[in-house]
Amino acid sequence: MPRDTTHAGSGQPSPDRDGAGQVPLLSASDHARVLTRILLSPVVKGPIVRRPGPVNLVERFDLDSAGVREMQRLHERYGDGPVQLRIPGRRLALVLAPADVHRVLDGTPEPFTPATLEKRGALNHFEPESSLVSSAQERRARRPLNEEVLESSRPVHSHAEVMTAAIEREVTSLLGHADFTGTLDWDGFATAWWRIVRQIVLGAAAREDHQITDDIRRLRRRANLAYAMPQNRRLRESFLAQLRRYVEAAEPGSLAEMVARTPASRDAEPIQQIPQWLFAFDAAAWATFRALSLLTCHPGAAETAREEMTRAPELPYLRATVLESLRLWPTTPLLLRDTTEETTWRTGSLPAGTAVIIFAPYFHRDERHLAEAHRFAPQLWLEGHEPGERDDRAWPLVPFSDGPGICPGRNVVLLTCSMVLGELVRQRSLTAQQPLDTSTLPGSLSPFSSRFTVAPLG
Ligand code: HEM
Repeated sequence: MPRDTTHAGSGQPSPDRDGAGQVPLLSASDHARVLTRILLSPVVKGPIVRRPGPVNLVERFDLDSAGVREMQRLHERYGDGPVQLRIPGRRLALVLAPADVHRVLDGTPEPFTPATLEKRGALNHFEPESSLVSSAQERRARRPLNEEVLESSRPVHSHAEVMTAAIEREVTSLLGHADFTGTLDWDGFATAWWRIVRQIVLGAAAREDHQITDDIRRLRRRANLAYAMPQNRRLRESFLAQLRRYVEAAEPGSLAEMVARTPASRDAEPIQQIPQWLFAFDAAAWATFRALSLLTCHPGAAETAREEMTRAPELPYLRATVLESLRLWPTTPLLLRDTTEETTWRTGSLPAGTAVIIFAPYFHRDERHLAEAHRFAPQLWLEGHEPGERDDRAWPLVPFSDGPGICPGRNVVLLTCSMVLGELVRQRSLTAQQPLDTSTLPGSLSPFSSRFTVAPLG
């Protein structure tokens, strides 16, 4: 049990005594609160593949808002931090100050590596050579390959025409089916989504390859339990072999084609970069369905989006809506780094091997600093503040992370999500069956229980 470092009766944290000059340890009671109110929710929901039951429960009990409130309380108690906590076998530090968020993310991969112990335990189940879990040395070949294929610096990918054609076809077919029941629900949306994703990533031939989606889902379920679950190497190898076949087929307009024709060294492990893309498109599906709730619950928003579709695929308002969905309900709530050497902070030092945690919802929903914290505010992203363009003084809104580890797929994500959303509202009138309270948006929003009434445009 961690030592309580609070001065008895004073209520103020005392300097840590088990390591002179180290970042202070939280009190025992604060340890318990952080574990139950901040770290439990992402673990219970499923870090690698979400479990719909727990996600719905977290929403019902508003656990994500409790996490933000707990961070605010810690900040009031411990100041700008960081603060330290211990769990058996692991030393953790929680970042409390915006400047430290920038410092950690800008300091990727050294001294803050994204390849943390927990991520390696999880992602090794299906992508042990992915850039995200690579050493700084391996990363030098793998990260640039991701950036090249995903064209990270281009808002609109050069394959946009093929991508948007697939999106238009699938959304048309999805809405055709929804017309029979008059309802668009998660299951129907997710089926259409994966057809789109397989075509974008692997090519049109993969449209009906439900097996490959099932295979990665099975591997991800094991990844939820990280080291506690033995790896299924046979399944991983057959999954990777299938990906290799798609790269060899190199269907024009697919990301697989880009992989096939992008020069890369063996160290880059091109095939093993692809599972991360398939895996991460799941988060984009949740973000899109939540963004649909935002669009349909805010008067005038769907009309603005519909009007913007005449200028597709450049869709600033729709992209900002997706970014708002990700700010309000971040799909990567914990940005994790491990320190590769001793680091020094305003409150003391942290040894190498400490896990540094940035809890994004705190920064995204802290109404003490962000007037728009609990409201839909697309303007936050419409004034030259796209991810990666914020400077060090900016309040950290980091749904895609930031710095050298920023999501290299963000523009592909924003293109895909904004086009899917835009097509949905261009083709039909959609009404949320459980309208949001737009004056104070909820701390969680389960996409799995969202439903929309579908009607022809008036
Ligand atoms: C809503 C959707 C997505 C969000 C919010 C998101 C967010 C993120 C975040 C926060 C990270 C950093 C993770 C960390 O530091 O541990 C990351 C990394 C990454 N993302 Fe995304 N992502 C999304 C979808 C995608 C998609 C669709 C792709 C590819 C098509 C992609 C490719 C990657 C890759 C390759 C990395 C690892 C980068 C590295 O090794 O430095 N992401 N993403």
